[in-house]
Amino acid sequence: MNKLTADLTVSKAKLDEIADFFVKTATSSLAKQTERGIPMIPTYVTKLPTGKEKGVFLACDLGGTNFRCCSVVLNGDGTHKITQDKCHIPEEVLNAKSHVEFYDWLASCIGDFVAKQHPNWKSDQGKLRMGVTFSYPVNQTGLNRGTLVRWTKKVNVPDAVGRDVCVDFQTAMDRRNIPVYIAALINDTTGALLARSYMAGESVHTLLGMILGTGTNAAYMEDVAKITKLPAGTTQHKTMAVNTEWGSFDNDLQVLPTTRFDAAIDKLTLNPTVHMFEKRISGMFMGEILRQMLCELHGKGLIFKNLPAGSLDKPFGIDTATPSQIEADASSDNIEVKAIMRDVFGINPTSEEAHAVRKLSHGIGKRAAYLVAGAIGGVVNLTNALEKYQYIDIGGDGSVYEFYPGFEKHMREALRLLYGEATEKRFKFGIVKDGSGIGAALCASLSAEEA
Ligand code: GLC
Repeated sequence: MNKLTADLTVSKAKLDEIADFFVKTATSSLAKQTERGIPMIPTYVTKLPTGKEKGVFLACDLGGTNFRCCSVVLNGDGTHKITQDKCHIPEEVLNAKSHVEFYDWLASCIGDFVAKQHPNWKSDQGKLRMGVTFSYPVNQTGLNRGTLVRWTKKVNVPDAVGRDVCVDFQTAMDRRNIPVYIAALINDTTGALLARSYMAGESVHTLLGMILGTGTNAAYMEDVAKITKLPAGTTQHKTMAVNTEWGSFDNDLQVLPTTRFDAAIDKLTLNPTVHMFEKRISGMFMGEILRQMLCELHGKGLIFKNLPAGSLDKPFGIDTATPSQIEADASSDNIEVKAIMRDVFGINPTSEEAHAVRKLSHGIGKRAAYLVAGAIGGVVNLTNALEKYQYIDIGGDGSVYEFYPGFEKHMREALRLLYGEATEKRFKFGIVKDGSGIGAALCASLSAEEA
């Protein structure tokens, strides 16, 4: 047991190594397209909002399990109003036989939403401009052009890979005569970056938009001069947001800590050997890490002697909400932990067992937060942010960020190890609710300014 929790510990030396390796690999990916390295995808978003953007825009967001359609009013003073509908993506759409079937379903959701929210919109008024948040790696070739690199999380529509997301989606909407024009395609992290900047106003420089949810990733503003893989003359602008796709940081596992549980989980995934950073951190995996550990302890006869057969057998059978709720138990005698274990595993644990599960959940969440801090350190060092800005402003979103107890506290602990106490205080973390919806709308608005 102690050995298991010790294996989850991330030392100061390891944090330094992670941050250094991040700088090294990110720098080389900015210069040259990479197969296995961290992708560092240029987004074609060339400026951050000022807070003064105005107008009505549509936005949609394809996330891990839901498709959200939003109508966003930007008021021009850093405030906004958002109306949204959430559609649960059915299994048969997640595994659609063709891209046509897949985008047709997305288009039908947009059609229903527009009919409901903008019933009087006439096609002679032109098309509504929409920003699409697509939370998967896309190789962008323009603000509203980009080919899908691979699916992550739960979508599995192989023939959509390598195709232009905007073209396929726009074609599906045109087939249904939906009066909507895709003005911009962004990643959810770019959305979080833009939304946080809009809300913070011109006086604050937001360094990072970060998602810690079903998946994990971050986007930041980079000097175009450093993104040398961009073809010459791509833009006149000096800066461009980069979608790091840090879920794929260190796919070759040169510095990331790897336990036998991490290795076993990778084999169970739809995308083995890639997105290795994400598989130690995000909401899709932390519950599974706990399940793997409990299976081993139970298999060795060390815990849960009376466990009903099969309770722990199902891969991904434990949601990350479980370790998260376990970690939230503030009682000294693990009352909540015991109740959760009755619900989830169907057993009445002893106090020792409850204590053990709590310790493991704590270790899993803390390791994830430390690894994220290592990657944040990577972006901070890569951009010389500590020399340039007084505050390191980070906008975050996602279920792990919002609900996993102690996540920020643990990230801060790790940042203190990396930079010392005084510098850690210069980091500001804030939640960006609806970041992808607002961010996509902002992007549609910024693109209108340039058009
Ligand atoms: C996955 C996706 C990435 C997204 C992240 C958070 O890592 O590859 O594009 O930003 O999940 O949703």
